[in-house]
Amino acid sequence: MIHAVYPGSFDPLHNGHVDLIHRAARIYDRLTVAVLDNPAKRAAFDVGRRVAILREATADLDGVTVDRFQGLLVDYMRRVEGRVIVKGLRAISDFEYELQMAHLNRQFNADVETTFIMTATRWSYVSSSRVKELARYGADVSGLVPAASLEAVRSLAREAGVAPERPSDASGG
Ligand code: PNS
Repeated sequence: MIHAVYPGSFDPLHNGHVDLIHRAARIYDRLTVAVLDNPAKRAAFDVGRRVAILREATADLDGVTVDRFQGLLVDYMRRVEGRVIVKGLRAISDFEYELQMAHLNRQFNADVETTFIMTATRWSYVSSSRVKELARYGADVSGLVPAASLEAVRSLAREAGVAPERPSDASGG
């Protein structure tokens, strides 16, 4: 039985993440989506909300659970007896950062392997940072995030004093 862990900030969860969760869930017996709770880094959404969004978005998936963790990922992997770390790769620009993390994680926990799944082409340009930026300017990001994230991203526009839901250009992409 292979227990895989997909770690991340998920601030907020977007469609690229969701696609990766679906694909990883088909490969591994058990998948834990682990949300980093990093008190040193100010997230747009608190960790409880990020976990709740993930739980809602993955409720229909067998073998997928959502958890949160603090500290080093390699220590978390030991605690939950995770064998594989799953990460998504969108582009070459992700590679160097991920390579460094994979090597360091392996140095500190050689029992764990990092595996990469190429992000689906249609979501390869989506990131949580861009989703937040667009939402804060009032853009309609409903095509980029799952329904579970919508209320959270709409709150960013309200906080910024912008009317949310300016329709995106349907001819794009
Ligand atoms: O979605 P993100 O922000 O790219 O996810 C990054 C994450 C959470 C996978 C990474 O920052 C992480 O594993 N943090 C936990 C601390 C840790 O183990 N750092 C590694 C030092 S080499």
